[in-house]
Amino acid sequence: MNMKSSTATQPHKKNGAVEEAVKRPKSLELFCFFCMALFSVLCCFFYLDYRVFSRGFGFGFGGRLENPRLEFLEQGRAECDLFEGEWVWDETYPLYQSRDCEFLDDGFRCSENGRNDSFYMKWRWQPKSCNLPRFNAMAMLEKLRDRRMVFVGDSLGRNQWESLLCMLSSAIADKASIYEVNGTPITKHNGFFIFKFKHYNCTVEYYRAPFLVVQGRAPRGAPGEVKSTLKLDVMDWSSVKWKDADILIFNTGNWWNYEKTKRGGCYFQIGKDVMMEMSVESAYRRSIETLFNWISKEVNLSKTEVIFRTYAPVHFRDGDWKTGRGCYLETLPVTGLSSQLSTQPWAHLLNPFQEVLSSKAPALELEILNVTQMTALRKDGHPSLYYLGPAGGLAAIHRQDCSHWCLPGVPDAWNELLYALILRRDMFRHQNPTEFLRQGDPKSIS
Ligand SMILES: *[C@@H]1O[C@H](CO)[C@@H](O)[C@H](O)[C@H]1NC(C)=O
Ligand SMILES: *[C@@H]1O[C@H](CO)[C@@H](O)[C@H](O)[C@H]1NC(C)=O
Ligand SMILES: *[C@@H]1O[C@H](CO)[C@@H](O)[C@H](O)[C@H]1NC(C)=O
Ligand SMILES: *[C@@H]1O[C@H](CO)[C@@H](O)[C@H](O)[C@H]1NC(C)=O
Repeated sequence: MNMKSSTATQPHKKNGAVEEAVKRPKSLELFCFFCMALFSVLCCFFYLDYRVFSRGFGFGFGGRLENPRLEFLEQGRAECDLFEGEWVWDETYPLYQSRDCEFLDDGFRCSENGRNDSFYMKWRWQPKSCNLPRFNAMAMLEKLRDRRMVFVGDSLGRNQWESLLCMLSSAIADKASIYEVNGTPITKHNGFFIFKFKHYNCTVEYYRAPFLVVQGRAPRGAPGEVKSTLKLDVMDWSSVKWKDADILIFNTGNWWNYEKTKRGGCYFQIGKDVMMEMSVESAYRRSIETLFNWISKEVNLSKTEVIFRTYAPVHFRDGDWKTGRGCYLETLPVTGLSSQLSTQPWAHLLNPFQEVLSSKAPALELEILNVTQMTALRKDGHPSLYYLGPAGGLAAIHRQDCSHWCLPGVPDAWNELLYALILRRDMFRHQNPTEFLRQGDPKSIS
């Protein structure tokens, strides 16, 4: 009542009300403007924060704002070179902790063995022109359902295989559902291991074959200094066990040197002949030819995805870094300008792959996991003195391990690349099955 009368009986106040009504929007406008400005500033901060925390700090290549990269799988085949890029700091790493993973050799459990710096676990590989999909253990296990994935190679292959076991098992609560099918404990230096993920009916296997070709007793009548031979024209005997796998990942290189062959009386053999004068380099080349010929004859490439992981550089004192102390106390990777280092020091291990590949391609549908350059930058990732197990203490300074890798660590990044390659292959296979099968048809190989 009161209100009604006041508006009705005091028309002179209307002016004031109108005035106020005109004034209010002005201050409202100002207020809104202020709010919007504050909101934008906050948004900027959140966005920047989000960039920093979700993708890590980048060094070089410009920020993602100015130069947004495509996601790897949005691009056509061969558009993005996954292996050209750099290591970026990322707080969301590592993907697992070694104490939560029962599948690791003691030699790779650096932090449990006393290494107390942890930067080496926090670098993510960032390709220059696209983004990698983030590793998703569930999605990968789904890709592996009812399939066999096999690693063949030396102890660096074992390093990568154990990394993958940890990455995959981190998503599985029921650890008892993951087991070695023959009950072989992983601590044993066995020739092979077959780990089954029961709920996915898949196996992730490792076969030790450091030269990929057969190493055996010297033939009768060979000169006395010949203690054993590498049969350069025969694939490792275990090949019958894994040639039908769905995904085959090869690696070799770390044993192809004088010290691990001829110095110990291991010479090279082709057919029945021991080649006393043959260099390690040409023997290596010959073994790579054998590998590729064997694949084209024995592997059904419509079924089996074949991947070669290239040589992973070591960082010993007399190696490429000449730091005078091997890799002990190295806590940072090479970043910035020097990160475009040349792969020339390993050309003798890389070129035979490239040459044999280019002579076979494109008839052979094979993939390269080209880790050499990215790995060369990671002088900080080795166990150095921290490989003797929790009770073993530190190794002597002249007995550093600068060839294997701490886990979590560098091989996790190789496996993220492997994950991307597998996703891509599946995508192309579904998009274009006829072309894929034609390319992969063993009959089309000359
Ligand atoms: C591996 O990557 C390096 C650096 O990007 C490149 O120079 C080399 O040619 C690549 N090798 C193969 C076999 O793709
Ligand atoms: C880490 O270990 C080194 C020697 O291995 C030692 O000198 C250093 O004090 C340790 N740092 C921390 C934070 O424990
Ligand atoms: C498990 O996978 C294999 C192929 O690796 C397949 O032959 C078999 O039928 C699968 N078992 C079940 C129960 O699905
Ligand atoms: C090769 O694998 C494909 C796909 O699994 C299969 O359909 C084909 O029969 C296999 N070819 C031979 C020769 O075994």
